[in-house]
Amino acid sequence: YTMNGAVTFEHVTFQYPDTAAAVLHDISFETKPGTTVAIMGATGAGKTSLVGLIPRLYEQNAGVIKIDGTDISTLNTEYLRDSIGYVPQEIILFTGTIRENIAWGKEDATLDEIIEAAKLAQIHDTIIQFPLGYDTILGQKGVNLSGGQKQRLTIARALVRKPCILLLDDSTSALDVRTEASLLQALRNISCTTFLITQKISSTLHADLILLLEDGSLLAQGSHEELIADCALYQRIYES
Ligand code: GTP
Ligand code: MG
Repeated sequence: YTMNGAVTFEHVTFQYPDTAAAVLHDISFETKPGTTVAIMGATGAGKTSLVGLIPRLYEQNAGVIKIDGTDISTLNTEYLRDSIGYVPQEIILFTGTIRENIAWGKEDATLDEIIEAAKLAQIHDTIIQFPLGYDTILGQKGVNLSGGQKQRLTIARALVRKPCILLLDDSTSALDVRTEASLLQALRNISCTTFLITQKISSTLHADLILLLEDGSLLAQGSHEELIADCALYQRIYES
């Protein structure tokens, strides 16, 4: 059994255990399998906290989160985290080869699987231009990658695990519009439901669903066309 990746939030409220105030208030939305969901909102709005609930890095205080109709609190967390790829906001690369960096956490990945993940992440063409290709060493004694290359490498690391759901926390901020669009299309082609935290309007244009967060509340949700028509904040972001 593998997931289809339909994620549903029903009246979800969340606060960190050591704080008094909720950081997410009454969040409800529904995604279809294999679609792209863009999450926008100012710094501190709750974007990272929201996606962290999906692999149960934290537990919500109220409401229900479902994947394919099943309440995730009834799912085995290991199974859940195996099925969900998470690219955190802070990139972690280590001194070692590109191959080792992509396979980190899935050391039994074959070279074919690593190449497939790198192709999906739109970084394969860059890698094969290095004389040592996938054996290129990164870090102090090796090659220094650009910000956008590092982001794509960490996306490849998540994809090598063949997730059904992918969480990208600001992971495309350094990508140009075309590369980002190719990445999102590649993820659609493999039917991977993608949550894309972003500050860029170019990333939301092709999203099936945009969630606009403000101070932990879902201010608006819908397609680009719907938000342009009804949401003053979204219009302001679009025009700025
Ligand atoms: P940016 O990444 O800056 O764009 O913000 P974000 O939208 O991802 O916000 P995030 O979900 O990280 O934070 C929402 C609120 O939760 C903020 O008020 C944070 O200060 C708070 N917060 C985030 N992480 C933690 C945590 O680990 N513990 C506690 N107690 N509060 C946190
Ligand atoms: Mg964040």
